[in-house]
Amino acid sequence: MKNNLQIGILGFGTVGSGVLRILKHHEPKLNQVTGVSLKVKKVLVRDMEKNRGSIAEGIELTLDADEIVSDPEIDIVVEVMGSVDDAKKYIKKALVSGKHVVTANKDLIALHGNELVALAKENHCDLYYEASVAGGVPILRTIVDSLASDEIQKVFGIVNGTTNFILSKMTNEGKSYDDALKEAQELGFAESNPTNDVDGIDAARKMVILTRLAYGMNVEVNQIETKGIRNLQQKDIEMARKLGYKIKLIGSAIQIENKISVDVGPILVPNNHPLASVQDENNAVFVVGAAVGETMYYGPGAGELPTATSVVSDVITVAKNIRLGTSGNVFSSYQHETRLAEDTEVFNKYYIAIEMQDKTGQFLALTKLFSQFDIGFDQIIQQPLPSDMSKVVIVTHKINKDQQKKLLTVLKGANEMNLLVCFKVMEGK
Ligand SMILES: NC(=O)c1ccc[n+]([C@@H]2O[C@H](COP(=O)([O-])OP(=O)(O)OC[C@H]3O[C@@H](n4cnc5c(N)ncnc54)[C@H](OP(=O)(O)O)[C@@H]3O)[C@@H](O)[C@H]2O)c1
Repeated sequence: MKNNLQIGILGFGTVGSGVLRILKHHEPKLNQVTGVSLKVKKVLVRDMEKNRGSIAEGIELTLDADEIVSDPEIDIVVEVMGSVDDAKKYIKKALVSGKHVVTANKDLIALHGNELVALAKENHCDLYYEASVAGGVPILRTIVDSLASDEIQKVFGIVNGTTNFILSKMTNEGKSYDDALKEAQELGFAESNPTNDVDGIDAARKMVILTRLAYGMNVEVNQIETKGIRNLQQKDIEMARKLGYKIKLIGSAIQIENKISVDVGPILVPNNHPLASVQDENNAVFVVGAAVGETMYYGPGAGELPTATSVVSDVITVAKNIRLGTSGNVFSSYQHETRLAEDTEVFNKYYIAIEMQDKTGQFLALTKLFSQFDIGFDQIIQQPLPSDMSKVVIVTHKINKDQQKKLLTVLKGANEMNLLVCFKVMEGK
C-alpha cells in the first residue's frame, strides 16, 4: 500500500493557490485523516514568469499539461484552471491514464459531467466536484451522503455570489444596477464580462448539477427557464420592499409528483424567509426532504480558501478510497428517469408590474383580462405616473405557469398597457 500520494494541479490561480495553501497549512491533519502523505508534484500554468508569492516556493511549474496528466507517478489530478474545452481534454486524458480527478469546474461538469462520470467509471477512477456548486458550502456531499436516506422534494437557493452581491448593494445602499455591478467588478466579485453571472447562466449550470445529484435526473441547461438581473431597476427593488419582499436571484428544482421543474430567475422573497437575509457574495441552499423537512446550508460561495477547502476535501475522499481500495465510485449512483413537469402542473404566485393610461375604465379592463385566465389578486398597488399614466403592481394568487404565460402574451399585445416585469413570488415561512 502506498504511503505517499502525488498530486498534479492544473491551474495556479485563485483556487489553485488556495489548494496549495490548505495542503501545506493543514498537512499534519490531512496525513492523519487520510493515513497517507499528500505531495504536490507539479502545477500547470500559462505563464512561468508570473509572481505567485511565497506559496510557490519549492513547487515545480510546467506549461505542458501532459507532464501532469500522463505522469505515471501522479495519482490525483486537481483541475482548477477553468474553461471547458482544454479542461475536458486534460481530465479525459487523466482518467484514461488511471488518475483520480477532482475539479471545481461547474461549466464543465454541468455540460459534460455525464460523459466524464462514465469515463471515470470505465477506468475505475474517482471523479469529485464538490467545489463546483456554492464554493465553500459542502452542499453536494450533503445531498448525496447525508441526505441519501431521504426523498428530496425541493432544492432552491442563492447559488451565484456575484448577483447576490449586486442585489445586496441595490437593496441595502440604493445603488443602480450599473453602479453595483461596477463595484462588484472592482472588488473582484464579478468578471469584466459578467454575462454568465448576471444573465443567470452560471446559476442554471449549478442547478443542472444539483438536479442530477438530488433527483438523479438529467436536465440540460437549455431546458431550464433562465432569467437574469441585467434589466432589474431600483424601482423594482423599492416596490418589492413596499410589499414586504427582497429580490434575490434564485435557482430552484422542485419535485412535482415524479417530475421536476427547474428554473432560475429574480424572485420576490418574503422578508421573513431566511434567504432574504443572505447578503453580499454569500450563497445559501435550501433542501427540503420528505422526512427531514427543511434544511438550509449557508456560507461563502466563492473565494480562494473556501473553494479550496471543498477541493481538498474531495482530495481527502479520493485518498481514503485509494487507501481502502474502494476507488471508482462516482459521486452519486442515484439515477431516475428525467421527467419535466408540464406548465399546467407548476404553481406559483407572480409579481406583475404594468404601465397603463390613467383613465376611467382602464382598471376594469385590466381586471377583466386577469379574470379571463381565472387569475385573482393577492395584493395590488396603483401609483400615478407623469403624463396621465399609472403603474399598477399586482401579486397574483397561486396560478400555474400555463395561465401565467397566456396572461403575459395577452398583456404584451394589449393596447394602452405596457408589461414592465413579471417575477415569481416565493411563499413566506
Ligand atoms: N474563484 C472562485 O472563487 C471559484 C469558486 C468555485 C469554483 N471555481 C472554479 O475554479 C476554477 C478556477 O477558478 P480560479 O478563480 O482559480 O481561476 P483563475 O484565477 O483564473 O486561475 C486559472 C489558472 O489556470 C491557469 N490556466 C488557465 N487556462 C490554462 C491553460 N489553457 N493552460 C495552462 N494553464 C491555464 C492560469 O494560468 P496563469 O496563472 O499562468 O495565468 C491560472 O493559474 C474555475 O473552473 C472556476 O469556475 C472558482
